[in-house]
Amino acid sequence: MADILTGKTAVVTGGEGGIGAAICRRFAAEGAQVISADLGQNSDAPEGVEFQRYDVTSEENVQFLFQNLMEKWGKLDILVNAAGIEIERTIEETTLYEWNRIFAINVTGTFLTSKYALPLMRNSEGASIINFGSYDGFIADPSLAAYCATKGAVHALTRAMACDHGPEGIRVNAVCPGFVDTPMLQSFFGSSGDIDSLKQAVRDVHPTRTYGQPEDIANLVNWLASDEARYASGQLWVMDGGLTAQVQQMRL
Ligand SMILES: NC(=O)c1ccc[n+]([C@@H]2O[C@H](COP(=O)([O-])OP(=O)(O)OC[C@H]3O[C@@H](n4cnc5c(N)ncnc54)[C@H](O)[C@@H]3O)[C@@H](O)[C@H]2O)c1
Repeated sequence: MADILTGKTAVVTGGEGGIGAAICRRFAAEGAQVISADLGQNSDAPEGVEFQRYDVTSEENVQFLFQNLMEKWGKLDILVNAAGIEIERTIEETTLYEWNRIFAINVTGTFLTSKYALPLMRNSEGASIINFGSYDGFIADPSLAAYCATKGAVHALTRAMACDHGPEGIRVNAVCPGFVDTPMLQSFFGSSGDIDSLKQAVRDVHPTRTYGQPEDIANLVNWLASDEARYASGQLWVMDGGLTAQVQQMRL
């Protein structure tokens, strides 16, 4: 590894999920000190990664984490807002509770964590926030209405944060994956009767004939977090195997 994050400190929300865990592993391998902040721990934290139980919807939790980090590190160089949930429903099938819950995690969680991270990030020599959007923030999959709406909101928030905090030396970008092989995708497959046919159909609809692995996304996040990306800000970085480059997609 190139150790391009040596000396940097990082918080990854949703750090125990498929994509978040790959990001934590990669950051640690590149020399960063990493906090994996998640509702629950899925496995032993690898070397260089410390688990912190954390709920992105709780202002108390968020304040507690960053107060502690101010004392421990005095600065924060990298924040990844990867915590997220998906609800597979049309708006008619979605309850108000579910609508508010997905917005609380995917959008308000990104807002709250970023808000309280900012004072520490101002103490960094080169700070980078990476939010999680989705290709579903640009185009819609059937029966993902609330999820699509949250990701569109994260895209708009990303641009606004980049404008406001760029002058303070804080870059803000969003990564917008297509299909990535994580528990979230497995749960999507699990809701279908014929999982193997659906998996093949998902592969076939991609120009690259494959869906992504968490490490593919971690590669991009790692670059955005590093000083090599010092001129990259305010952008929505789609990584989807060419899925959204097509004129027409197969209906899955
Ligand atoms: N997997 C995909 O195909 C895909 C595609 C596009 C975008 N994304 C986005 O990437 C991000 C990561 O997704 P993933 O596939 O790794 O999902 P995942 O389900 O594997 O992981 C999500 C993690 O978020 C955590 N989390 C949920 N609610 C939380 C809360 N209130 N506080 C703290 N942590 C919480 C979960 O415990 C879990 O560890 C999400 O924002 C998701 O919307 C994923």
